Amino acid sequence: MINYFKADPWKIIEEGFNPQYNEIAESIFSIGNGMMGQRGNIEETYSGHSLQGTYHGGVYYPDKTRVGWWKNGYPEYFAKVLNSTYWSGLEIRINGELLDLNTCKIVQFQRELDMQHGVLNRKCVVALTNGIEVSIESSRFYSLINKEYAGLRYQLSTNKNCQLDITNYVDGNVVNKDSNYDETFWNEINQEVRNHQTIVTVETKKLNWRVCTAVQFDIFNQEIKQQLTHTPTTQSKYAAAHYSFPVTAGEPWQLVKHCVMATSFHHSPEAVEIHAIKTLEKMSASTFQAHLQMSAAAWAKKWETTDVEIHGDIKAQQAVRFNIYHLNQTYCGDDARLNIGPKGYTGEKYGGSTYWDTEAYCLPFYLVTSHSSIAKQLLVYRYKQLDKAIENAQKLGFNNGAALYPMVTMNGEECHNEWEITFEEIHRNGAIAYAIWNYIQHTGDKKYLSEGGFEVLLGIARFWAQRVHWSEYRKRYEMHGVTGPNEYENNVNNNWYTSYIANWCMQFTAECAEWLSQEYPNEWKSILQKTNFHKTEEIQHWNHIHEHLYLPYNEDYQVFVQHDGFLEKQLIPAHELPASDRPLNQKWSWDRILRSVYIKQADVLQGLYFFEDQFDMECHKRNFQFYEPFTVHESSLSPCVHSILAAKIGEPNKAYEMYLRTARLDLDNYNNDTEDGLHITSMAGSYLSIVQGFGGLRIRNQQLQLNPYCPPQWESYKFQILLNNQPVAIFVSKQKTEIANLSSKEIQFTVNGKSKNVEANSSVIV
Ligand code: BGC
Repeated sequence: MINYFKADPWKIIEEGFNPQYNEIAESIFSIGNGMMGQRGNIEETYSGHSLQGTYHGGVYYPDKTRVGWWKNGYPEYFAKVLNSTYWSGLEIRINGELLDLNTCKIVQFQRELDMQHGVLNRKCVVALTNGIEVSIESSRFYSLINKEYAGLRYQLSTNKNCQLDITNYVDGNVVNKDSNYDETFWNEINQEVRNHQTIVTVETKKLNWRVCTAVQFDIFNQEIKQQLTHTPTTQSKYAAAHYSFPVTAGEPWQLVKHCVMATSFHHSPEAVEIHAIKTLEKMSASTFQAHLQMSAAAWAKKWETTDVEIHGDIKAQQAVRFNIYHLNQTYCGDDARLNIGPKGYTGEKYGGSTYWDTEAYCLPFYLVTSHSSIAKQLLVYRYKQLDKAIENAQKLGFNNGAALYPMVTMNGEECHNEWEITFEEIHRNGAIAYAIWNYIQHTGDKKYLSEGGFEVLLGIARFWAQRVHWSEYRKRYEMHGVTGPNEYENNVNNNWYTSYIANWCMQFTAECAEWLSQEYPNEWKSILQKTNFHKTEEIQHWNHIHEHLYLPYNEDYQVFVQHDGFLEKQLIPAHELPASDRPLNQKWSWDRILRSVYIKQADVLQGLYFFEDQFDMECHKRNFQFYEPFTVHESSLSPCVHSILAAKIGEPNKAYEMYLRTARLDLDNYNNDTEDGLHITSMAGSYLSIVQGFGGLRIRNQQLQLNPYCPPQWESYKFQILLNNQPVAIFVSKQKTEIANLSSKEIQFTVNGKSKNVEANSSVIV
């Protein structure tokens, strides 16, 4: 798929239509606004392969769990990201012949995502069997200003006089491709056609989420709105208005769909439809263009703080903007109940909305590109789900307020159901604690500990203290039956990364307890009461674990050992595998994968990435050089961590190779799975590969540290961050690094370990 999409600094362009790639292109061309989104589906009929998808944040379906053998502790359901009413469809007939892009001849086709303005455009010319050529231009966007609004402008002209039949429809008869029991998830509430409005209200089975999709349809001929008569049709969950009129050759007609989608995630169920119709009336009083301009202005503002400019490498430039665009269309931090699903609003695979990906990968992106309140929302999200995490741990036999956050969740409840992951991939708890540490490093907001942060840490620390056990035989603590980040090996003992982060969590929690008890004595009292925390005894126990926890290390190789037995495997590097065997997860049996040495994603190296200050450069090098050759990067989360580490240890070629792999993962379909949806959470990793990798940026104690270099393949690059909510721009070329302080306060920072300062509204070159 390499080079299928044309390189451009601000656009993703598909020229010519290849039906084989349609589902991939639909993922790539997804658009959204942080509250809802849609795949890049073609508006007119398309009878070929397509995954039609429209998704609303927070609206999900608890699909009954499907497993071969039930295990105690499995969750009852898997939360499905729910495909919802399709609003943008148009059925078009020319002299009676259906316009179906799958069957008519495509003369010209161009689909492009304009990332700068957040709009999806398409131009095409098709020839029907009746000899008529139809030219189409469409633009569609989801407003960043009014988060319940999406608009479509569709222009059509023909090369001969003909009769045009258009059906504007809204269709709630949609399914999830990944439904466990082939059920449909929606019940009908109301469908109607009022003048030129088509309205469908549906409600989910089980949880009764209500969604109203209300569309105003306007037809323009030479800029003049035509009040054409139409024939209304309604069926269950479906409302349509049919228009039929003659068209003169070469005279374009313009159709506009103003769409408002309201859900009971934001309104009471009874109010959803009334609200949607009222909002639609307000929104359709302005033009499509006016809404688009406002939304595009909001995108321009987003780009001010999130953009990365790369000079001298257009593919790298396009790729990083593609990643940033999709992160911004997935999560804007408007609602503490929303999170960042691995596929965002671009597909259905994975379900749930929250994985450890959020804390480990996405949070650092929002920490440097957005106001600190946005990153805080992500922490508050977990605080609000603490009770459920405690219940989850209780179900597995833990007590005393121990909390195990779910591997996958929508509302705080676990919904993952593979025992080796649900019960064993517990390192996710560590990432949640690490995120609190990271947030404090960036913002200095230690007060957050008194507002819920400490309670989360305590629940996690208590979990770890119970999850390790004392081995009388070895006279040490060990942790058995875990799955590390490398899911290509399950149920292992003493996974270095999991044990390391567990130990760190307990130590960090102890440190926070000391600080809180001194700085916030009143809040501390109520925390003690609420949590029944026996500070002295519990911290003593954590310290005992700290002193006696087994963290496997091998003297011969001088590396941390991924887990017991890892070194006894057949150590054949991945480059010796035939290309036809890759990706292993599609070519090999699971049994063969589990017994092999191959590592799906950073495991020991994930630990070095998180806790880099605790290890010296030589240790980084040895572990990287040992583990990377066995790593197959079959998780999208893998290449970015390797890129950052390779940059750190001075391997620029490896860093660059891994950068391209992470940033162009979906554009070039590296893992052969882009059709399922985009790898949204790893997109944050692509951004971090530049900023933390090549830029060497770290924030410690609210101080900026840089260790920048310019990859040999680029002339220069530039990005802007928010440091303590104040803008700072960083430009790096082969010759110089320039730090521009765009704020009204002096800042101090270090470059390559040397302290510098830059006055307000000025810049320094180093
Ligand atoms: C990775 C996990 C990740 C999940 C969702 C899996 O393939 O191994 O680490 O949380 O995808 O992105």
